[in-house]
Amino acid sequence: MFLLVVVLTVALAATLVLLVRSRRPGPIPVERESHLEQLFETFPHALTLRHLDGRLLRANAEFTRLFQYSVPEVVGVNIDRLLGVPGGERASGGERLLSSASKVWRQTRRRRRDGSQVEVSHTGAPLSLAGKTVAFYEVYHDLTQQLQAEATITEQQRLLEAFFTQSLDGFFFMMLDRPIHWTPEADKEALLDYAFAHHRVTRINDAMLAQYGYTRDQMLGLTPSDIYAHDLAQGRVQWRRFFDAGRLHTVTNERRADGTPILIEGDYVCLYDEEGRLTGHFGIQRDVTERSRQEEALRESEEKFAKAFRSSPFPITIATLSEGRFLEVNEAFLRDVGYPRAEVIGHTALELGLWRDPEARTELVRRLERDGMVREYEFVSKTRHRDRQINHIWAEKINLQGQECLLDIVWDVTEWRANEEALRRSRQELRDLAARLQTVREEERTRIARELHDELGQALTGLKMDLAWVRGRLTRPQADLAERLQTLINRVDGTVDAVRRLATELRPGVLDLLGLVAAIEWQTQEFGRRTGIETDLDLHSDGSAVDDVRATTVLRILQEALTNVARHAHATRVRIGFTQTRERLQLEVADNGRGITPDELAGRRSLGLVGIRERAIGCGGALEIEGRPGNGTTVKVRIPSGAIGAEEVVA
Ligand SMILES: Nc1ncnc2c1ncn2[C@@H]1O[C@H](COP(=O)(O)OP(=O)(O)O)[C@@H](O)[C@H]1O
Ligand SMILES: [Mg+2]
Repeated sequence: MFLLVVVLTVALAATLVLLVRSRRPGPIPVERESHLEQLFETFPHALTLRHLDGRLLRANAEFTRLFQYSVPEVVGVNIDRLLGVPGGERASGGERLLSSASKVWRQTRRRRRDGSQVEVSHTGAPLSLAGKTVAFYEVYHDLTQQLQAEATITEQQRLLEAFFTQSLDGFFFMMLDRPIHWTPEADKEALLDYAFAHHRVTRINDAMLAQYGYTRDQMLGLTPSDIYAHDLAQGRVQWRRFFDAGRLHTVTNERRADGTPILIEGDYVCLYDEEGRLTGHFGIQRDVTERSRQEEALRESEEKFAKAFRSSPFPITIATLSEGRFLEVNEAFLRDVGYPRAEVIGHTALELGLWRDPEARTELVRRLERDGMVREYEFVSKTRHRDRQINHIWAEKINLQGQECLLDIVWDVTEWRANEEALRRSRQELRDLAARLQTVREEERTRIARELHDELGQALTGLKMDLAWVRGRLTRPQADLAERLQTLINRVDGTVDAVRRLATELRPGVLDLLGLVAAIEWQTQEFGRRTGIETDLDLHSDGSAVDDVRATTVLRILQEALTNVARHAHATRVRIGFTQTRERLQLEVADNGRGITPDELAGRRSLGLVGIRERAIGCGGALEIEGRPGNGTTVKVRIPSGAIGAEEVVA
């Protein structure tokens, strides 16, 4: 542009000489003058001709356009003030132009008619006629656009530089020492030989140095031979493919300066000169080691969980929290509700009518929002197959792409519930039956005991009395008969004792006569006497009343426990503890024998222990049996006393 201005200016100088001359008397070549006028007017920059004293002689249309003054406004005026020429510049302006034979060029600033400033280049030169300066001309060229363009370019360069140096991606240039013709006909192997020795890293940013852990000095100047030292053959294959295509996107396994592996994802682009020769290339690359490790871990974990999700035998769903719109459900869920997948995904549980009571879902969401999770929440659903299904739901609040969702597992407990109820009922029936049997047995025993005692006892007593009477009637010579009678009487006595003992065992009279504590005492003494095992009794009673059923239960449990000690324990000592309060009865039988084993405890064939437990439970109590190998067995029963039981029933 500046060149153009100078050329035009020189051309003009010649023209103006003619112009000025034409103002003087003499023959005027009219045609020529009009050409010059035209040239002056159409000159593409603001152009003025000024008298030596500074007054304006002429100005062209471009001057009007640039400074907004019309020609008549400025002709005959010294325009320096109008255009805001600074004092210093003004003083040296015309004079300097005049004193100098050469052109002057400067970049400066001028004022328009509306007061705005404009950057211009200002060129001027004296106009001499016959060796004498007669006027001077000036050309103003509007620099606004040019300056703007320059500023833009500078800014862009600055940005590019910043982009290169500060990018978090690694940037580099590798340039060949001299360009090569990479064409299909070329001897590519030879060119690769050259490139591998002469294609050098010329620029590199900090991010790239950080990726490899090298210093700039270590990396600048590296060639492919250095970079691919660990696998030259592979490097050449890759390089060849790259040069063929002109660009390359790859993910490569590389090494850091310290030898650790690094996974690099890079984009590489070849650079060419005007002749199409390859001059080098630049690359952008990222360290994707961590990212790919994370992706792999994520993929693995997703696969694991997706499998668990899909193959779970329990229905699992993921739905939006607020609406319950299904995003994902598994096969078990579809089977359970009986709808095809397409009718479920994108629809809500309420739309499908799965919740019999929509309020129950609102409550579930409320709990989830409060606690983040819900465990074993029970709700009743309606599926395609079933009008009423009882479920337990386990739910977690999860966040999927910024959306609050609910992940839940549902367990259909309808059948389980029914079974549980049936089992409970059947157990209760069994217990009632067992209790009834015990009662019947006790009644039977009581009756037999009474009959033994009363009928047989009385008959035997009668028999004994009769025998005694017969013995009284005997005479001396019948001594042997008397002796035989005495033996008979003794035998009847023994039988009476046996009958009494039998009757007592069937139904200890002490129980009725003296109560539970005395019966326990009597039973213990009997046991010690019969077995020779040392007994140790520890009785506490606050004297409160015990009903017959409970008293019998405690006594029978004691009898069975003691029988077991005699039969199985090989014990030398047994301790019997009994506490009777208003609240409860507690019996403990602890021997020092071999100790019952867990297997024996779990044995179902052993009716004795089962009987004990049933009796205890039948009275609302609990039984604990503990065996210590070689260290004895303890049987512990706790039964709420009748009084409390009655209150409980009332309550
Ligand atoms: N005090 C004890 N010491 C050691 N073993 C015992 C004791 N009580 C019970 N057992 C073991 O537990 C089993 C079950 O007892 P039980 O139900 O009373 O059946 P049974 O007495 O008819 O064998 C016994 O066969 C015995 O092996
Ligand atoms: Mg037994």
